[in-house]
Amino acid sequence: MSKLAWKTILASAALGGIMIAAPAMAGGTNASAAQPDPGLIAKGAKLWADNCGRCHNLRPASNFSDDGWEVVVSHMRVRANLPGEDAKAIKAFLKNSN
Ligand code: HEC
Repeated sequence: MSKLAWKTILASAALGGIMIAAPAMAGGTNASAAQPDPGLIAKGAKLWADNCGRCHNLRPASNFSDDGWEVVVSHMRVRANLPGEDAKAIKAFLKNSN
C-alpha cells in the first residue's frame, strides 16, 4: 500500500475520534437554537457506548440517516429500557455524527 493511502486511513481514523470527542470539548459558548446542544451530544455519545453495544456490536453513526436513527433508536430504546431523555441524547449524538 502506498504511503498516501496509509496517511488517508490514519487521517480518517483520527477524524473519527475527533467527531466523538469534539462535542465534549466544544463547551457551551456557541450553542444556538439551530445547533444541537454539545452537552446533550456528549451525554448521548457516552450513553450510546454504554448501552447500544450490550446486545450486539455497536452500529456506527454512519450506518443510518437522521430519519433512520429516529426509527432505530425509538425501537432500541424499548429494548434497552432507556428513559426518554437518554434516547433523546443518543439520537442527538448519532444524528450529529452520521
Ligand atoms: C436488549 C438488547 C438490545 C439493546 C440494549 C440494543 N439493541 Fe439494537 N438490536 C437488538 C436486537 C435483538 C436487534 C435485532 C432485531 C431487531 O432488529 O429488532 C437489534 C437491532 C439493531 C439494529 C439493526 C436494525 C436494522 O434494521 O438493521 C440497530 C441499528 C440497532 N439495534 C441499534 C441499537 C442502538 C442504537 C441501541 C442503543 C440505543 C441498541 N441497538 C440497543 C437488541 C438490542
